[in-house]
Amino acid sequence: MQEQIEKIGEAALADLKEIGESASLQAWKVQYLGRSAALSKILDNMGDLTKEERPIVGRKVNELKNTLQEAFAVRGAALREESIQKSLLSEKVDITLPGRELNRGRLHPATQTLRKIYSIWADMGFQIFRSREVELDEYNFELLNMPEHHPARDMWDTFHTTTPGVILRTHTSPGQIHVMRARAPEPIRVILPGMCYRYEQITSRAEIQFNQVEGLAVGRSITFADLKGTLTSFARRMFDQNVGTRFRAQHFPFTEPSAEMDIECFICGGQGCSVCKYTGWLEILGCGMVHPTVLENGGYDPAEFSGFAFGMGPERITMLLHQIDDIRAFWKNDWRFLEQF
Ligand code: PHE
Repeated sequence: MQEQIEKIGEAALADLKEIGESASLQAWKVQYLGRSAALSKILDNMGDLTKEERPIVGRKVNELKNTLQEAFAVRGAALREESIQKSLLSEKVDITLPGRELNRGRLHPATQTLRKIYSIWADMGFQIFRSREVELDEYNFELLNMPEHHPARDMWDTFHTTTPGVILRTHTSPGQIHVMRARAPEPIRVILPGMCYRYEQITSRAEIQFNQVEGLAVGRSITFADLKGTLTSFARRMFDQNVGTRFRAQHFPFTEPSAEMDIECFICGGQGCSVCKYTGWLEILGCGMVHPTVLENGGYDPAEFSGFAFGMGPERITMLLHQIDDIRAFWKNDWRFLEQF
C-alpha cells in the first residue's frame, strides 16, 4: 500500500513537470487531488485496511496530498511568471525607435493672419463688429453712395440671389452702415471682418470668396492725419517696426478723399523684385475719409462728425508674407500646403 502511494506521488510529480499551460495544470489537479483521484480512493477504502495500517496510510496519504498541493502552487506560480515573460518578449517595445509624429491640427494660414490683425486692432482700441454675408443691395451699394446704375458698381462683380435686391456682399463695407446705425450718435472704433464674394473667373490671382477686414472710426474732429497715423502704426506692428509706407490717391464712392496704402516691399527692401513687380512697393489696403453721404446714411451729422475707413484682404497679405503665388491654395484644403504653416 505504501509503495502504491509512493508511486502515485512519483507519477504525479513527473506529470507536473511536463505541464506547460494552466489548462493542463487544472486537469492535473483534478486527476491527482480531485474527488475521484487514486489518493482519495485510498482514503475512501480505509475500512479495508488493518487497524495497524490505517494511521500509517492515513498519514502517508495526507503528507503526499500536502506535498502535491504545494507542488501545484509552485508550478502555477512558475507558469504565470513564464507567461508574463513570454508576453513581455513578444510585445517588446523598442524604445530606441524614433516616435511616429502625430498629425497635429493647426490654424489655417488665413486664420493666423486674421488673428494677428484682430490683436493689433484690439491693442489700438478697435472692437470687432460682425454683419451678415447675405446682404441687401441697398447696404452693399446704395447706402455707400452707389445708387442703381452707378458705374462704380462694376468694380464689384456681384453674386445675385433669386430674391431681387438680395446679394452676397462683395466687400465688408456694408458693415459700416450696420454699425453706424447700431451706434449713432456714439463715437465708433471697430473692425468688421468676414467673408466676401465676387462673381469672378477664378485664377491664381482672383477667388470668388475671400476675407476682408474693414475698419471704421467715427467721431468729432477725426482727420486724414488720424487715418495716416493709425494705418502706419498698424503696418509697423503687422510687418516690421521700420517698414516704409506711402499713400496713393484712389477713388472709392464711399470715401472722400480716398487712398491706397502701400508698404515697402519686404522681400527686396524696396529695391524691386518679382513680388513687388519691380516697383519696390506692395499695396495692402484701400482707405479714405468716410463720405458725408455715407455718414448721413449711418445716422451721423457730417457737419459734426467725421471718420475714416479702410479695407484689407488678409489672404492677399498672407500671400505677400509667405510668397504664396496662387490664391486658390487657400480653399483647396491640400495638406501639403496647409502643413507648412
Ligand atoms: N470696400 C473696398 C473694397 O472692397 C475697400 C475700402 C474699404 C476702401 C473702406 C475704402 C474704405 O475694395
